[in-house]
Amino acid sequence: MNLTILDTTLREGEQTPGVCFDVHIKLAIADLLARVGVEVIEAGHPAVTEEIRRAVTLLAARGLGPRVGAHARSLKSDVDLALACGVGFLGVFYCVADERLEDHRQTLTRAVDRIARVIAYARERRPDLWIRYTPEDTVRSPFENVLTAAAAAVQAGADIISVADTTGFLIPGTGRDMYGFVSRLRDGLAARGAFPKIAVHCHNDRGLALANALDGLRAGAEIVDASILGLGERAGIVDLATLLAVLAHDFGEAGRWDLTVLPELYDLASRYARVPVPAHFPVTGRNAFTHCAGIHTQAATRNPLHYQSLPAELVGRKSEIALDHMSGLASVRYCLELLGIEAGEELARAVLRRVKEVGQTGRTVDLAELKYVVRALEASEGESRDEAAATSLGPEPEEKTGTC
Ligand code: COA
Ligand code: ZN
Repeated sequence: MNLTILDTTLREGEQTPGVCFDVHIKLAIADLLARVGVEVIEAGHPAVTEEIRRAVTLLAARGLGPRVGAHARSLKSDVDLALACGVGFLGVFYCVADERLEDHRQTLTRAVDRIARVIAYARERRPDLWIRYTPEDTVRSPFENVLTAAAAAVQAGADIISVADTTGFLIPGTGRDMYGFVSRLRDGLAARGAFPKIAVHCHNDRGLALANALDGLRAGAEIVDASILGLGERAGIVDLATLLAVLAHDFGEAGRWDLTVLPELYDLASRYARVPVPAHFPVTGRNAFTHCAGIHTQAATRNPLHYQSLPAELVGRKSEIALDHMSGLASVRYCLELLGIEAGEELARAVLRRVKEVGQTGRTVDLAELKYVVRALEASEGESRDEAAATSLGPEPEEKTGTC
């Protein structure tokens, strides 16, 4: 598959309310993205702040494997700022929907002329630049407007047309699907003699961003935008780790990226974005490869894939077992074995009772605590053995005196 992954954590991701990475964190995130092996890092919109300009410049000069890109409005001044950062990729956007054009007091003809002029300007300055044009809210805009603007952009020098589902509006398998949109756009542009790469930028307002992105790939899109944790405006966009795991495992792209870097990347970005990775998040969530219910655990201890369709090792993790009120004897035995404890039937059942009690308080028992549970049970067993012995033999004379 001819495929380019564009990570936009540092551009779209910073549009998450309250998220702003320090420059040194941006560099660290970009280094890890380079280790993962994404093809493009969209590093920011230089017109937004001086700090973003500085960060984009530093990233572009870092000599990373991925191409470093910048976002720009259809304004010569935005393009100048982006090019001054030394980027290898430029994303230019402008709306084409009639109501939005009215907001800008523009006609479609004038808008198309502006888009073409700005792109031609960038192309003239940097023949080697990858230039992407995005008709904002592509999929809700009149198709003819999109086609006209996209064809003009390609003629002016754009290499890539991005289909933006800006509001997470599309639904696979319906009359408003990414597959249909990308197919129509590709055919419409080809009929006008334009053959750009198609990118898909999918928002997650309906929880369908990844499904729509995959639908776009099926229709021939070659570039997919994603971000760490799916960070971005409102409900965000496609989650990078889930996308890569699916592409690697299910679309024959194994070995293309180093997914074992993802846990470190997510820890870092999540900490400095102050957005925790939800425990049940796919691929990178704490519980993504943890089996809990006794029936699942009993089968998964023999082969995790009985209850997992993605191997944890794909992303450098391990399948795990959690102990709580859902546990069964197999769960307990497995964890005791991990601790090197050989427990008889009676002790294992006692441990399970205790694990279920603790679980009912709303938490799990980890291996360290399990050790304490076993010790306490052995101690009380010893105590009752002593008591029983004491009762059958009668009290020792010293004990009678109460001395010890
Ligand atoms: N091309 C050209 N101009 C555009 C545009 C586009 N694609 N999209 C919006 N604009 C214009 C609007 O018409 C408006 O200009 P006006 O005030 O002359 O009408 C302006 O950009 C946006 O309004 P506002 O935010 O009030 O302008 P500003 O000059 O104070 O700040 C930014 C502009 C870009 C610096 C500021 O909005 C910002 O920091 N934005 C963060 C990045 C962002 O919005 N990204 C969206 C990516 S989809
Ligand atoms: Zn977006």
